[in-house]
Amino acid sequence: MTDDSPSPDPHDPETILVAVAWPYANGDLHAGQIAGAYLPADIYARYHRMRGDRTLMVSGSDSHGTPVTVRAESEGTTPAEVFERFHASFLDTFERFGISFDLFTSTDTDNHAEVAQDIFLKLLENGFLYEAEQTLLYDPKAERFLPDRYVEGTCPYCDYDRARGDQCDQCGRTLDALELINPRSKVSDATPEPRETTHHFLKLSAFNDQLIEWVESKDYWRPAVKNFTLGMLREGLHDRAITRDIAWGVPVPLEGYEDKRIYVWFEAVIGYLSATKEWARDSEDSDDPDSWKAWWEDPAARTVYFQGKDNVPFHTLIWPSILLGYGGLNLPYDVPANQYVTISGSKASTSGNWAIWMPDYLDRHDPDPLRYALTVLMPETSDSDFSWAEYVRRNNDELVARWGNLVNRVLTITRRNFEDRTPPAPAALAPESEALLARVDAAFDAVGGQIDAVQLRRALGSAMEIAQAGNQYLDERAPWAAVKTDRDHAAETLHTALNAISGLATLLAPFLPFTSAEVWTFLAHPGTPQDHGWQRTPVSGNTPLPAPHPLFQKLDDSLIEEEESRLGT
Ligand code: MF3
Ligand code: ZN
Repeated sequence: MTDDSPSPDPHDPETILVAVAWPYANGDLHAGQIAGAYLPADIYARYHRMRGDRTLMVSGSDSHGTPVTVRAESEGTTPAEVFERFHASFLDTFERFGISFDLFTSTDTDNHAEVAQDIFLKLLENGFLYEAEQTLLYDPKAERFLPDRYVEGTCPYCDYDRARGDQCDQCGRTLDALELINPRSKVSDATPEPRETTHHFLKLSAFNDQLIEWVESKDYWRPAVKNFTLGMLREGLHDRAITRDIAWGVPVPLEGYEDKRIYVWFEAVIGYLSATKEWARDSEDSDDPDSWKAWWEDPAARTVYFQGKDNVPFHTLIWPSILLGYGGLNLPYDVPANQYVTISGSKASTSGNWAIWMPDYLDRHDPDPLRYALTVLMPETSDSDFSWAEYVRRNNDELVARWGNLVNRVLTITRRNFEDRTPPAPAALAPESEALLARVDAAFDAVGGQIDAVQLRRALGSAMEIAQAGNQYLDERAPWAAVKTDRDHAAETLHTALNAISGLATLLAPFLPFTSAEVWTFLAHPGTPQDHGWQRTPVSGNTPLPAPHPLFQKLDDSLIEEEESRLGT
């Protein structure tokens, strides 16, 4: 090993489940959802895979519940058709945007129904489910109960006047439709009236004290997540009905309940477990159908749940209660929920078409510039705003001018002056060359630690600082001039710069997987950065180099207006 090659950093592989919120299959994905859950999860998973950890990233389409049935009714089609259409759209978006799921399944599988029903029955047996009469809102004109999203009204806690029957979008609390002030039916103009029906209830109150103790011990949780959760626990959890009078969903596994389905939130969170089981049974990467136990039964495994803030109570209260009631399965290790991304100053809205729709974006642009823009403004501690002007500026000033340009300059000068090959490896490195590579190598621990702490904005910033250091180094050493007077000096500079770029391509791979893979081929490294671990892959001397092309396109300001005119129309 020469003195400029990185020292390996052996560590015991960890076992990590990257659990990502299951999107309702009732509409295309937009950039807000991507920034909230899918992109941070993907960065985190890619890093852990490269580090050699036993990493599994799962999710799936949330195919049930009233979000899907409401859309089906308004389109005059079936819930199954709506679910299938958007499930296909999600898979396409993840593929094109590089969201690297090990399994993206759906809640509409036999496996999921079996796992959810097994948990339902076990909780019943353990005394954590009970049957009770419930008063629910009923629409006398449409002659049906109005579960969840079929009713809207004013939130009794924060006065928001468009709270839904299941949750208030303003204060984030889970609601009972009956608590709504001035409830309105969404299926007719009738005023809903209360009626009795029988449902199964989850005894959340039984877990209140245990959950307080558990959450209080989580000193590494994001303050917003921890405080919101403790606030709900100190108010005291109420038992909640977990069955519904609808026909679309997982059947209740008891005789006499043929007309009811399990509540979508109760069964969807179970998807994390059922998806792990599906992967263990069906994936060629799994050696054993019981391999799911590594993530769920070994207390050393870390299960990390990525989502937007509206999902928090379901992952820090309801899912942990189900897990406690079932017994023997790991509770969430962390729930790094994100706040919201607004678009040009306004909250994203599907009905107002105020969003960046992923299929539409991907038809016209490359994935990495948006991955970059969304990571740089990831709403980790407070809401943040996306604008196309900022997108263009970041693309041009940071991706093109800083990173793309470094790669392009070094490769072009090298090929031009060293017959399309890497320069011969130098006998020794100058102190500033050693210093640059030492900085690159040290960044692996720094950036890795920040990704592990889910501080992804900082992590990307740290990596980009190294790219900036690379540009400074290059400017100071000016190999394009030196090559005419001191060829060895230029060779040493380019050798160092190529090695720095190799390290940077790996450091940036979790964030910018498409362009990092391109840099990999420019450097004539075999495979992709993912195959080489979380360390700098040395560039050796006298290796043929293929012709590079620009990594990023400089964008014209006219794009800003063009894109903005698509919003809200
Ligand atoms: N479908 C829900 C949403 O889009 C998220 C469900 S996450 C799960 O808000 F874990 F419950 F599946
Ligand atoms: Zn509210």
